[in-house]
Amino acid sequence: MARVYVSCRLPEPIPEELARSFAVTAHPGAAPPSRAELLAGCAGHDGLLVTPLERVDAELLDAAGPQLRVVANHAVGYDNVDVAAATARGVVVANTPGVLTRATAELTLALLLALLRRIAEGDRFLRRSAPWIWSPVFMLGTGLDGKTLGIVGLGRIGREVARLGEAFGMRVVYASPRPQEAPWPRLELADLLATADVVSLHCPLGPATRHLIDAPALATMRPTAVLVNTTRGPVVDEAALADALSAGTIAGAALDVYEREPEVHPGLLGLDQVVLSPHLGSATVETRVAMGRLCVAALETALLEGRCPDNALDPAAWRPAP
Ligand code: GLV
Repeated sequence: MARVYVSCRLPEPIPEELARSFAVTAHPGAAPPSRAELLAGCAGHDGLLVTPLERVDAELLDAAGPQLRVVANHAVGYDNVDVAAATARGVVVANTPGVLTRATAELTLALLLALLRRIAEGDRFLRRSAPWIWSPVFMLGTGLDGKTLGIVGLGRIGREVARLGEAFGMRVVYASPRPQEAPWPRLELADLLATADVVSLHCPLGPATRHLIDAPALATMRPTAVLVNTTRGPVVDEAALADALSAGTIAGAALDVYEREPEVHPGLLGLDQVVLSPHLGSATVETRVAMGRLCVAALETALLEGRCPDNALDPAAWRPAP
């Protein structure tokens, strides 16, 4: 039986489904493996199922050994994987596109509404048992209808957020390195930042997008604008964001991801104009089961059927078993 190392706990029924096809070594406990545990744990396995918390690089691939054929990354984002190092070793890498698009887009809108309609702030307010009475001017927020939604990165998730934003009456514009087939106007990033009421980040993390939203970028946004980040934390310079919020350079932020997860910049924690969630973009039961199944399917396709998985990031790495 092919051997698969699993670094994380998975929702039911994924563990049983994996165990039907493979000899599974599961990292024990709820905490992720340390680097040393990961390097030792993956040795001798034909497939790995890992999360964005694990760095898959030359060292790890070599620690796994030359029999390794496939890495299933339990995420759509794969900035944790050195795909070129995998390709160079004939290891195919698969991620989980598509199945988490809707969940992540829904969370983006949920965070945006929580911020603009002051839901999290109102919840904190009531839990403090502060005295209050309804009035026409009490805790006023801002609506979405007629506002400009600036999507940065028009991939699957960016498009879905655009579609949901339109359902709320928003006018959509987008910025992307290349023009896309889309019904919305494409702007240069600088123009999008200067004009959007809501800037929502959906670009992948890479050398070109690390700190894409830094102090100069924040300074060009409107003082009434808000920033939403449900992609990867390091796309935003979190210290610069905390400064910009404190100074009133922008009006608010809704964040699901952080530069140094699980840490959150302390300058963000005390601000009422900030809504925070702990990396929940794809965290629905349905979506996590679908992600687990995509990972199992990639492992089975590679290791049992001897074919390149459909969701391979580097099909060129695939070489049929001798
Ligand atoms: C989660 O962050 C993902 O990239 O799927």
